[in-house]
Amino acid sequence: MKNLRNIEFWSALTIILVTILLIIGTYFKWFFANFIVGPFRFTHWLSIMGTFLIAVITPMFYILRRRYPKRNISLTRIHVFSNLFAFTLISIHFAQQMSRSVHPEDRTGLTLYIIVSILIASGFLHRFQILEKGGVYPPHRNRFLHVSITTAFYLIVIIHILHNLGFL
Ligand code: HEM
Ligand code: HEM
Repeated sequence: MKNLRNIEFWSALTIILVTILLIIGTYFKWFFANFIVGPFRFTHWLSIMGTFLIAVITPMFYILRRRYPKRNISLTRIHVFSNLFAFTLISIHFAQQMSRSVHPEDRTGLTLYIIVSILIASGFLHRFQILEKGGVYPPHRNRFLHVSITTAFYLIVIIHILHNLGFL
């Protein structure tokens, strides 16, 4: 398999595995990540940084790769790794919220996390060309899912932020 010699593949997989460990560690409170920094909890700051990375770098990627087609490879690399890093930050916020004994009634955050996970999974399958053309789930369908679900991310993240900051 061509990916076995690809350093980007192993780096991306390592980030995902480390993220899973951080989710488990945060959920079972092996380490304390819930201290207050200024007006928010530390884990909320992580979610703000992660959301900012996805929300700002994605449209930049979209515009820049059309303006500078020769830079497509490096721009895609930035897109992949900044979003994987954002996923790690957001996952800590998610795991901390899931470990709470009392849960808020609305679940915009849970919906959002499912969307981000689909983005990561479909992006990974696309980047490392894991799907087969002509298979039950061909690459073009996966690319369509990856790009179209981005709209859902923007809509729900806005509702989640406005709601949790008390504006909705
Ligand atoms: C993709 C990004 C994010 C994900 C996946 C996410 C996920 C979650 C989850 C799962 C919850 C538990 C309640 C629920 O299910 O709705 C939650 C709560 C919360 N989130 Fe997020 N979140 C994200 C971004 C943000 C951002 C950017 C902020 C910054 C303002 C934020 C602030 C909060 C707050 C304040 C709560 C606590 C709600 C309460 O105690 O009632 N989240 N989030
Ligand atoms: C988590 C947030 C993410 C969002 C919101 C997002 C969104 C997008 C969007 C809108 C495009 C289309 C750009 C265009 O048409 O020019 C795209 C392309 C792409 N994404 Fe993502 N993405 C995310 C994460 C990832 C991850 C984690 C990977 C890989 C592991 C990835 C791999 C790719 C690749 C390879 C393309 C190029 C597709 C092509 O031109 O055929 N994405 N992404």
